[in-house]
Amino acid sequence: MLQAIKYDQGHLEILDQLQLPFVEKYIPIQNCEDGWEAIKSMKVRGAPAIAIVAMLALSSELFALKAAGKIPSASSEAQQYISEKLAYLVTSRPTAVNLSDAARKLEAITTESAAQAGASGQDVVAAFIRAAEEMLGKDLEDNQQIGHNGAKWIMENAAKGSPNVAVLTHCNTGSLATSGYGTALGVVRSLSSQNVLRHAYCTETRPYNQGSRLTAFELVHDKIPATLVTDSMAASLLADAKAGVSAIVVGADRVAANGDTANKIGTYGLAVLAKHHGVKFLVAAPLTTIDLATKSGDDIVIEQRPSIEVTSIKGPRQQDANNSSISLETVLTAAPGINVWNPAFDITPAALIDGVITEKGVVEKGSDGQFQMSTLFNDSA
Ligand code: MRU
Repeated sequence: MLQAIKYDQGHLEILDQLQLPFVEKYIPIQNCEDGWEAIKSMKVRGAPAIAIVAMLALSSELFALKAAGKIPSASSEAQQYISEKLAYLVTSRPTAVNLSDAARKLEAITTESAAQAGASGQDVVAAFIRAAEEMLGKDLEDNQQIGHNGAKWIMENAAKGSPNVAVLTHCNTGSLATSGYGTALGVVRSLSSQNVLRHAYCTETRPYNQGSRLTAFELVHDKIPATLVTDSMAASLLADAKAGVSAIVVGADRVAANGDTANKIGTYGLAVLAKHHGVKFLVAAPLTTIDLATKSGDDIVIEQRPSIEVTSIKGPRQQDANNSSISLETVLTAAPGINVWNPAFDITPAALIDGVITEKGVVEKGSDGQFQMSTLFNDSA
């Protein structure tokens, strides 16, 4: 399986996603500054992956401090150090809640550790590292369960009696966006492994091309039957009876308490198209992406990205595409001087969403037509 994040006891490496799919290169992340820069510049991206990398970047920094004998002896000082680093890491990207959710949970764990009678700075650091390391395995397990739940729901509710389905996905929500397997792409993987996937379609996902560079890379890697379309082809694809798309399944960066969902720019448009064509529209996300503190999509901050992402494309020259030591070139594609709007995400209103697939099951709207996302947390911490 593709691995975006490699970690072993303070040694963290990430697959540099700015260079994929042309160059497969792991880069070391040794401290919080490295982690912050890798997230901001999108060397690693995807809501779960950025949370995990941020927490493991701080773990790696703490391992190095330990090796240098520089962990503060007082538990309160170690706690303060960790809190300041977490506050810094969450400033790297604003929209995905997973990052601030992980920071809040790990801060609570270290605060509790620091409050124990006789706790040392070493104890607080150990508590943080343990919790950060647990995130990797937990995320993978959750994704596999999301894949299973989503595939089952689609076969029961969208297949319309057919033994197999075609699905469309957007952006990259796979192994590269998580600790492994993926959320929406995990659903595609699960359908494929059960031999009920007739075909997967992935959108190019302009401007950053997560679909054509990363999702297409994963689909080719896993030999899943798949076709790439540009974003502007989605409507025609849904209208095409031969393609027979039964469901659109996407990931999420933040699901508000009422089900409104922030995800990669273009998601909202796909949801509108799905409604018009009677195609099921599903959001796949772990519980860490569901933010009950955010009442609706109106309260979600949408990240604005640099204009160069819209006015250019990046890649190798065609004749160099199979040479792994190539360097990538940026080619301008827009008239110099034009104004650019580049929101990285949009909000899909809950009204357009048929179900939210989580590791705990698929949440559907109640008889009042509203999602109650809070029911997911009724019996968990
Ligand atoms: O800007 P990106 O590439 O980080 O955006 C990623 C997405 O929008 C994904 O759909 C989302 O983070 C879920 S990843 C499992």
